[in-house]
Amino acid sequence: MATWNLTEMNKHVLICNGSTCMRKGGEEVTQAIRDEITSRNLDAKIHTTRTRCNGRCKDGCVVVVYPEADWYFEMTEERAKKMVESHLEKGKPVKEWIAYERSEDGMKLLNGRFKGIEKGEGK
Ligand code: FES
Repeated sequence: MATWNLTEMNKHVLICNGSTCMRKGGEEVTQAIRDEITSRNLDAKIHTTRTRCNGRCKDGCVVVVYPEADWYFEMTEERAKKMVESHLEKGKPVKEWIAYERSEDGMKLLNGRFKGIEKGEGK
């Protein structure tokens, strides 16, 4: 267990480690993101958290970056490394790999991704 000093943190990355994303390479994506953050000396600024299912399994492996609220889909080790460089280091989200982004009235679906079912349906 650790208790990190977060005073320099400016981004929080949620990496889905739910069962579907883990079958789609979630462990490798997690390690790729963390290794790339460390190799770029960004550990103080970027905090990562492994999560359970984020409810977008068809998009797996899912990675979410805050404060932007950019939901990345189909992340692989290669995409993960490029996302760290472009988005987390240079501040340029990789739009073509983002399924949802924040809009004025909620979240906007991008890149022709599956809309999904309404909450409460499909149980
Ligand atoms: S397991 Fe990752 S979104 Fe469901």
